[in-house]
Amino acid sequence: MVQFAAGGGAWGIFFRCFLSRQIMASDSFQQHLQALRQQVEVSLQSSLQGRGWPQPLAQAVEYSLMAGGKRLRPVLVLLASDLCAGSQSLAISPACAIEMIHTYSLIHDDLPAMDNDDYRRGRLTSHKVFGEALAILAGDALLTLAFEVLGETAAAAEIRAELTVVLARAAGGAGMVGGQVLDLAAERGSFPGTAAASGVVSSLPDEFWRGGAEPEFGRNLPGSAKNPLNAIPATGVSGVEHLNRIHRMKTGALIAAALELGAVVAGATTQQRSQLRNYGLCIGLAFQIADDLLDVTGDAARLGKTPGRDADLGKLTYPALLGMETSRRQAEMLVQEACDSVSDFGPRSGWLQELARFIVERDH
Ligand code: IPE
Ligand code: IPE
Ligand code: MG
Ligand code: MG
Ligand code: MG
Repeated sequence: MVQFAAGGGAWGIFFRCFLSRQIMASDSFQQHLQALRQQVEVSLQSSLQGRGWPQPLAQAVEYSLMAGGKRLRPVLVLLASDLCAGSQSLAISPACAIEMIHTYSLIHDDLPAMDNDDYRRGRLTSHKVFGEALAILAGDALLTLAFEVLGETAAAAEIRAELTVVLARAAGGAGMVGGQVLDLAAERGSFPGTAAASGVVSSLPDEFWRGGAEPEFGRNLPGSAKNPLNAIPATGVSGVEHLNRIHRMKTGALIAAALELGAVVAGATTQQRSQLRNYGLCIGLAFQIADDLLDVTGDAARLGKTPGRDADLGKLTYPALLGMETSRRQAEMLVQEACDSVSDFGPRSGWLQELARFIVERDH
């Protein structure tokens, strides 16, 4: 049974609604999702075979990659491709590739130099089991394997080239990696200096931006002047705009890329591709808002990771900046916009509509 830390009063009502709507997700949707996940599991496992890697590396990579997870991104690739009349046998390679990038991002995200987490996908984090060096290298190996697998897609050369560009852009400095940099820079209000210095529009007390009782900027790096992460300028940007930027980059970019990969591999029209991308951008932001909310309310056993870490680390998150209720409403609005974005596909977009709901109603 799912348990929430904030169970009583208005929150109790909210979470009961949250749970009852979750139960309402259609059986056929759950079954379809399960079937797609199963295919992803099988393909991921076989994509690890025969690579000729040193045994400890192979073991560390398999430990994280085959630890479960929702497989959201590869499922999105398969659903988008299907919606554009693509074949699943072509879409499965980009689907696996994006899950590899995602898993690498999680291994690195959990490192002591980043979020310093002990649990992931219901297991000890990679560095806890294999040590930091091998965890870093397992991430590196997954990042590069992703492009090896993508290159093995049995599609025309132009399509493979386009897939590569889409995935690389989303994973790199203008996408996930860049977003992670901004996420760390914003820890304990270190973006972009104190509220007073930056003119940041925030409902939070100044203590939040100063890091409350802990005035240092950033956790693992020296003071602000020497900390390169604190040199990121963000003048004239409100706290919410900056937070949206972080979330869109660190999480939204890869999720939007999943939809685009599905469209590209299926040979979709430009219009179909841009509608799917817009859907992806909306659910991508909604997904990270839901992740932020779950960090406050979620149950460790269901999440497979430790809740409460964002507050411990002084992360800039939706609940911290805007409160739970506003965050939830924002996620709902994004789901609606996502569903509108794919309405031209008609009833065939049903799976994507249900998936968008699942993203904000999930408990893990
Ligand atoms: C967690 O992603 C990291 C975020 C981008 C919020 P998921 O919640 O998709 O993690 P898994 O793949 O299910 O473990
Ligand atoms: C991580 O965001 C986004 C990534 C690019 C991995 P979080 O740091 O919030 O993800 P969790 O909560 O550790 O899964
Ligand atoms: Mg993080
Ligand atoms: Mg984290
Ligand atoms: Mg999180």
